[in-house]
Amino acid sequence: MTVMTRRDLLAAAGATVAGTMEARAQTTTDKTLIGAAKPKNLIYGAALATWQTDRDATLRRTFDRQCSTVVPEWEMKWGTIEATRGTRNYGAADRVVSFGASHGLTCRGHAAIWHRNLPKWVDAAMRDEGISVLATHISDLMTHYKGKIKSWDIVNEAIEPKDSQANSLRNSAFLQRLGPDYIGRAFTLAAEADPSIQGFYNEYGLYHNDSTDQARRTAVLALLEKLKSSGVPIYGLGIQGHLAMGRPFDASVFSTFLRQVANLGLKILITELDIDDRSLTQTVSERDRLVGERATKFLTAALSERAVEGVVTWGLSDKYSWLNNSVYQKRSDGTMNRCLPYDENFQTKPFWYSLYYAFKSAPLR
Ligand code: XIL
Repeated sequence: MTVMTRRDLLAAAGATVAGTMEARAQTTTDKTLIGAAKPKNLIYGAALATWQTDRDATLRRTFDRQCSTVVPEWEMKWGTIEATRGTRNYGAADRVVSFGASHGLTCRGHAAIWHRNLPKWVDAAMRDEGISVLATHISDLMTHYKGKIKSWDIVNEAIEPKDSQANSLRNSAFLQRLGPDYIGRAFTLAAEADPSIQGFYNEYGLYHNDSTDQARRTAVLALLEKLKSSGVPIYGLGIQGHLAMGRPFDASVFSTFLRQVANLGLKILITELDIDDRSLTQTVSERDRLVGERATKFLTAALSERAVEGVVTWGLSDKYSWLNNSVYQKRSDGTMNRCLPYDENFQTKPFWYSLYYAFKSAPLR
C-alpha cells in the first residue's frame, strides 16, 4: 500500500518544499512515521540539538522523512538564551526553527519557564523585582517567535510532591520568590504577548503505576483544574513520557488519567517519549522486543484518547539520546541505552514499529 507522505500532501496542495539535496533524493512511497500519523491528523516529531543535525546528514534526512515537528533540546531554554542578563541570544534557537522550516517541519517551543537550565542571575532578580523578571522573558520569547511557533511549553515540571510544599508544588526559585501564582501568570503573560499560541503545561512522571507517579498525577490534575477554573489561558498538558522499563505501567490507570485531563477541556501531547532500558539485562534483541512491547502498550492507551494530538520522541536515534550522553544516566554494562525508535546506526527497532502501527490503528482526530 502506498502511504501519502508529508511531501506528497504538500506537493498535492501545490506547495513548494524547500528541501535539501538529501531530502530530494528520497522516494515518497516508503512507510514513514509521519505517513502513518498524518492521515489521522496526528503529529509526530522529535527533539534535536543543532550540534547533532549540523554534523549528521542521516539524522537530517530522517527528520525530513519521518517527522512533522522538531523541538530544540536545549536551544530555547532560558539559560541558553539569556545567560547574561539583558543579552538575549536567539542564534541557536533560530537555527532550529529554520532547520524545521527548510524541511517542512513546524517547531515547538520548549520551555519558557523551567527550574533547570535557569540563568544564575534570575533568582536574585526575582527576589528584588518579582514577576516582572518573568514577564520580560516570556514576552520577549513569545514576541520573537510570533507567527513562527504556535505550540509552546510555557511551564515545565512545576510539581514535585517530594518537596512537601502546599499543593505539591516544586520548591523552586519561582515558588520561593513569586509564590504559587507564578504558574497561571506565566500562561497569561504568554497569551498577552501572542494570543494565538497553544500554551502547554509540561510534566514528567505521570505514567508509571507506582506511588511516585500516582502522587504526581493527583497533583497535576489539581493544578490543571485550578488553572482552568481561574480562566488561565492554557491549551493543553504535555506529558513528557520518559518511561522506565524498571517501573510498572498499567494502561488502564494511564487511560483514566488521560480522560480526566481531557474532561477539563484540555488537549494532550506526548512531548518527550523515550524508554529507558537500564533495568534490562537480556540480549540486545530481547531488550528491543521488551521496549517495543512497552511502547505499544503506552502508545495504544495514549492514542485511543482523542484529546491526544500526537507524539514527540526525545530524539530519533539512540546515538544522540540524552540517556547515552550524560555520564550519570548511562547503562552500567557499557552498552547503549536502546531508548529511541532508531539505533545508533539509524536502523529501525521494534519501538519504531510500535509507533507506526499505533498511528495506523489510532482513531481519526
Ligand atoms: C534534557 C536534554 O535532553 C539534555 O541534553 C540537557 O542536558 C538537559 O535537558 N525534561 C525536559 C527536557 O523537559 O528539557 C530535558 O532535556 C529532559 C527532561
